[in-house]
Amino acid sequence: MSKHILLIISGSIAAVKSLELIRLLKNKHYNVTCVLTKSGEQFVTPMALAALSGNKVYSDLFSLNDETEMGHIALSRAADLIVVAPASANIMAKMVAGIADDLATTLLLATNKPVVIAPAMNVKMWEHPATKRNVAQLKKDGIMIVEPAVGTLACGEEGQGRLAELNHILAIIEKEAAPYQPLKKLKALVTSGPTHEALDPVRYLTNRSSGKQGHAVAAALAHLGADVLLISGPTSEPDPIGVTVKKVLSAEDMLKTVMNALPVDVAVCAAAVSDWRADHIEPKKIKKEKSVLDMTFTFMQNPDILENVSKSERRPSLVIGFAAETENLTENARDKRKRKGCDWVVANLVAGGAVFGETENQVTLITEQGEETWPKLTKTQVAEKLVEKIVITLKAGGLTA
Ligand code: C5P
Repeated sequence: MSKHILLIISGSIAAVKSLELIRLLKNKHYNVTCVLTKSGEQFVTPMALAALSGNKVYSDLFSLNDETEMGHIALSRAADLIVVAPASANIMAKMVAGIADDLATTLLLATNKPVVIAPAMNVKMWEHPATKRNVAQLKKDGIMIVEPAVGTLACGEEGQGRLAELNHILAIIEKEAAPYQPLKKLKALVTSGPTHEALDPVRYLTNRSSGKQGHAVAAALAHLGADVLLISGPTSEPDPIGVTVKKVLSAEDMLKTVMNALPVDVAVCAAAVSDWRADHIEPKKIKKEKSVLDMTFTFMQNPDILENVSKSERRPSLVIGFAAETENLTENARDKRKRKGCDWVVANLVAGGAVFGETENQVTLITEQGEETWPKLTKTQVAEKLVEKIVITLKAGGLTA
């Protein structure tokens, strides 16, 4: 999906260069929406900006039409990045003071997005102590400043004040607009959902896992850039965006698919794999006529996928299991971590059917170093917190981007 840039053009002769900047941004497939200040209008016309950007141009804070179509807060939220180019000394001073007396400054005050500014002004204005103070404060406020270049200025004077080279501004925009993706170069594997262990062609043994937690982990890993393969048993959860999904039925299918997917950098086994399967599958549907079914099924243990991954020759750098317990949560989970050979266990109490299918989860994370109990969170938040930990741990091992 193309990134959305809100380009604010303030009053400087360099505003004419914003037309070329829009063209460069469009070539890179950015979606550009322009906001023009009153002084900016003295140098470029809304018509030229609309024609080049292909979008409506905004300039009026109190336009009834604009506010009903797209309010100024929505306009600032819709952007991935705000760029002020050129940024006049005046707009910088207003940003520092938090003044919001027109559309551009209101958007800058209301934004929760990164802001890049490219100042352009007369050399004396740039060198003025007031501007110097403002530049320092803007940097402290987290604004990215593309310093003006040195050369002959529009007014004929020489010095620092020319709008930076457009390709330089473009490079900074590209860097700032890139999402935070520390897991970009990493491969992750996630198992999720229950498994179905067939008894006959229509019946099976399963459990109450919904797949919500495992799917949320896959989504959170993908969001931070990992190349994620989600191997899922049958669930009604939608496939997470940006994740490759392989659907399996039984524990044996899941094991085969998981082992074929190795090597990966990180594996999160959140599936509630059925511990047993029937020793045989009746070839025909078992008839219901008898009031007592005198048929015997012997159940045999399924392979432990988490253990197989943890003890594999192609073991991922980080292997994480889940433990659903009805009693002695931490002791059982600690024991499970050692027995199965994984690095971490995310443990939760499921007494009384709690957790299954619900949106919230309360977990204890067990690692070699100890354990930490997290507050009750949504399953998405548990996934995000877990992935944050994964990033920190892989970073320490020098594995993240
Ligand atoms: O032993 P228990 O089923 O409680 O262990 C839970 C953890 O082990 C989960 O991470 C689950 O995905 C994994 N597991 C597995 N294969 C099995 C059983 C459990 O991967 N056959």
